Amino acid sequence: MLPIQGRSFTQTDDRQRVLDATDIVRLIGDHMALKPKGREFVALCPFHDDHKPSMCVIPHKQIYHCFSCGAGGNAIGFVMNYHKMGFGEALKYLAERAAIELTPWKPNRMSGMTGAGGSADGDEPDESSSRAAMLGASGTAQGFFRAILNHGEHGAAARAVLESRGVSAEMIELFQIGAAPDKWDGLVLTIGAKNISIDPFRAAGLVKAREQGGGFYDSFRNRVMFPIQDQIGRVIGFGGRRINDADEPKYINSSESAIFDKSSTLYGLHQAAQEIRKTRIAIVTEGYMDTIACHQHGVKNAVATLGTAMTAGNARVLRRLCDTVVLLFDGDEAGQKAAERAVEVFFSEPVDVKIATLGAVTDAKDPDELLKRENGRAIFDEVLAKAIDPLELLFAKVRRQIGGGGLSARARIVEDFIARLVDLGLERVDKIRYQLILKRLSQITDVDWETIAGLIAARRAKVRPAGAPGTFGAAPARVEPKSFGPREVLLGCILNDPTLQLSLQEEDWTLIEPETFEDVDVRRVAEAISRLIVDEHSPSLAAVLAAAEESGVQRAATRLSAEVDRMTESSPDRLGRLWNERLKDARAARSRGARADEGLAAGSREETFTERIERMRAVRSRVGDDPRAVPRPGS
Ligand code: UTP
Ligand code: MN
Repeated sequence: MLPIQGRSFTQTDDRQRVLDATDIVRLIGDHMALKPKGREFVALCPFHDDHKPSMCVIPHKQIYHCFSCGAGGNAIGFVMNYHKMGFGEALKYLAERAAIELTPWKPNRMSGMTGAGGSADGDEPDESSSRAAMLGASGTAQGFFRAILNHGEHGAAARAVLESRGVSAEMIELFQIGAAPDKWDGLVLTIGAKNISIDPFRAAGLVKAREQGGGFYDSFRNRVMFPIQDQIGRVIGFGGRRINDADEPKYINSSESAIFDKSSTLYGLHQAAQEIRKTRIAIVTEGYMDTIACHQHGVKNAVATLGTAMTAGNARVLRRLCDTVVLLFDGDEAGQKAAERAVEVFFSEPVDVKIATLGAVTDAKDPDELLKRENGRAIFDEVLAKAIDPLELLFAKVRRQIGGGGLSARARIVEDFIARLVDLGLERVDKIRYQLILKRLSQITDVDWETIAGLIAARRAKVRPAGAPGTFGAAPARVEPKSFGPREVLLGCILNDPTLQLSLQEEDWTLIEPETFEDVDVRRVAEAISRLIVDEHSPSLAAVLAAAEESGVQRAATRLSAEVDRMTESSPDRLGRLWNERLKDARAARSRGARADEGLAAGSREETFTERIERMRAVRSRVGDDPRAVPRPGS
């Protein structure tokens, strides 16, 4: 299957309009924290377990690229990767962001030009189309629950609950709160009336099949419904709170599904993301109602875990937005218990974590109750101000244990504690933090630095088989991009300066012949380049990316370009020299007979190949006459 099938001009046009209207720096900046670095921006790469910023966003090229894992592409590619969307879905998302109306897809206009390619209406592969259907079902259910809350009779009980809890109309709107009616078939009947498939509703856990007699029933009945949204606001699940105190359990949550991963989802992130980015602090509460109360009282950087302890997935989402995460617990006990877990999660994440407990300051049972009190906000702020590093909680425990103990007892306690730290992942900590921990530990225990370092090494040796790699404070394992051969470098050179292809001799076209590249994505980049040349377009990186509908192709093109950029330090002179060198190398390799095993001998290909050279020669002579067709470097 070819990545870039013939398309109507309206579609290409749509794509270009969307790309033109989108600034990749703003787009990516809306998803994670970007730091300026020279003319570029850097960020923690969201596509691998990144510990120091290895992703860069390059405004003048409108691309992103990770030097560690090799992810890369343009704005559409970023959205596809980040939100796991198909091409059409990503284009639609960006069009909506930029308020651009896409040309409706009319297959008949395209007759004979393409098979089942992607379209702006989302003609996606199976997996993402079922995800799209599930998102659609969640949206439909959401509309239904909203309508019920506003229904005179069916929404009365839920409205009364919200009113008695003091939830403002503004918050009901902001968090899109709804209600499930006290019926077994409210949603089921609505799906029937709309004449749409019930399958995605079932997949999303909104309805269940009856055990006998066939048919379906509603999963959520007689509950206040809190939609759980992803960062861009799509409903991916629900939390339903009971209305009758006699119903159990208090909350029913959507089951995990292809669109709902509890461990990496935070309630309220859509509403809080902007403020978290602004303040660079996230406050993580324990419950839905607490998060809503926070927002209602002006604490707009509050989110909640979904009834679980903080996970590494939560941390990974947050660390892209902020530097400090405050875990807010109701009681001291929960805070103590969570400390160890928090230490574990944040040992591996480059973000500061703090633990705040209400119990230390007030008798209010949770943030919701506290904030409703007179002067509640001031006390709330005091609670946050008293937040402490979870390591301090662990250290405090050691200090208590040591008490007045003798030398040998103390040695044992220190040893135990170090064993725990190592087991929690101490070795993933960056160097500076590691040294701070050591220093602090030495202070508390009155054991010298070297002894502690020795104990840590001993514990590590015990946990890890001898000879295994890994040092404290070391960089994470790098996913080395495999190095490119001379012909790949030629492709990268063309992407960075499309005019270079004009210097190719007739017989040189075989050097960048798509079929001869082993890597399937590189092959597609070569295909895109030849297609652009044949169509009389300049084969620039931007043009190849605009044509690429698969993230693999985007990634390959970006890597080829970035690799050549690195080799030439973006100097046009050096680019010219690199091109000449590699061209010579590639020609030499060809004349050594490398061509024979590159599969060029296949008779069936001979014809198209010759044909293509003919066409390209024709194109080259024309392009040569038209300076607009091939922009100068940097234009
Ligand atoms: P809480 O019982 O503190 O709930 O549970 P809450 O959000 O403060 O709600 P109110 O104030 O009692 O109305 C904290 C979180 O634990 C999860 C939910 O995510 C809830 O927000 N939880 C709780 C469940 O998932 N199921 C339950 O049965 C209870
Ligand atoms: Mn509560």
